[in-house]
Amino acid sequence: MPEGYKQMIEAHDLLRKFYHHLLVNTTEGQQALEYLLQRGLTEAVIEKFQIGYALDSWDFVYKFLVKRGFSEEILEKAGLIIPREKDKSYFDRFRNRVMFPITDHQGNTIAFSGRALGDDEPKYLNSPETPIFNKSAILYNFHKARSHIRKKEQVVIFEGFADCISAVRAGVEHSVATMGTALTDQHVQILKRNTDQILLCYDSDSAGLTAAYRASNMLIEQGFQVKVALMPDNLDPDDYIKKYGEKSFNSEVIGASLTYMAFQMHYLRRGKNLNNEGDRIAYIEEVLKRISRLSNAVERDLYLRQLSSEFSLSLDALEDQARQTFITER
Ligand code: UTP
Ligand code: MN
Ligand code: MN
Ligand code: MN
Ligand code: MN
Repeated sequence: MPEGYKQMIEAHDLLRKFYHHLLVNTTEGQQALEYLLQRGLTEAVIEKFQIGYALDSWDFVYKFLVKRGFSEEILEKAGLIIPREKDKSYFDRFRNRVMFPITDHQGNTIAFSGRALGDDEPKYLNSPETPIFNKSAILYNFHKARSHIRKKEQVVIFEGFADCISAVRAGVEHSVATMGTALTDQHVQILKRNTDQILLCYDSDSAGLTAAYRASNMLIEQGFQVKVALMPDNLDPDDYIKKYGEKSFNSEVIGASLTYMAFQMHYLRRGKNLNNEGDRIAYIEEVLKRISRLSNAVERDLYLRQLSSEFSLSLDALEDQARQTFITER
């Protein structure tokens, strides 16, 4: 265990309660509370996810925690305060933001992400990497989702806090979020111990689609069964639920998610004109490459037949080509 581990966790737990109190019980937190309610969050959800508010102050947290016996060194190491260059003073990392506590997989608060109330940059300010917070090994909400993931034999992965929280509210309790970073090997190892079925529910904008494309290929290679959920009009899951409701999210997004191959085909088609011969050949080659990697023979057959009928190509030729692709790729 890293040095100062216990104090760093304690400081975070104390601060989580304090931020939450400021949000729900004080006039200073009122504007932030209104922001959240106007976004459609309820008091029950704010309670469940222990959402809070960091005051618009340079040193409130610093004073609050030092008064309770935490050393400046520990607080700096924990990422909660930042030293000024010109003198020996410190200032609070998080100011005037809605605070999302991030827990480790045992439920200890180990970091925060603070969302700006308006258009301030960055939109989300995160704790830095610290001895207790390694972003590439932590999945938001995993601690609460774990038992649901095991029961459902599936995990749903989102990009962000708001998406994950809205999904849980909509009854999709086996939900986690990567907090904007790409899915890492460490995330994958954690998930593998709990399920082998992954549903990617990233934003349906261009960045989200590309992230889903990359993650899906990585996960297939790791032996997972992968599905991808899509939403219309570049929406993200939270926007979708707000616009179309929870029921529609469950049936039209989660329930209508694409298989790995169907998503690859959808993605590879983007920006191509399949009436153009060059584009068409490139597309077919890319799809064959993926079909050749499928371990399930029935699936391979299904997609080869689909390609064969869509482009009026002989099944024999496609099978040959897929076999060759498979050999040259090894
Ligand atoms: P998005 O840009 O999709 O934000 O980033 P969002 O989750 O839809 O945010 P809202 O709905 O406007 O509040 C997805 C995730 O990437 C991380 C956050 O974890 C966010 O939830 N992110 C995004 C950051 O860490 N910093 C940023 O400045 C932006
Ligand atoms: Mn409370
Ligand atoms: Mn996004
Ligand atoms: Mn988003
Ligand atoms: Mn959003």
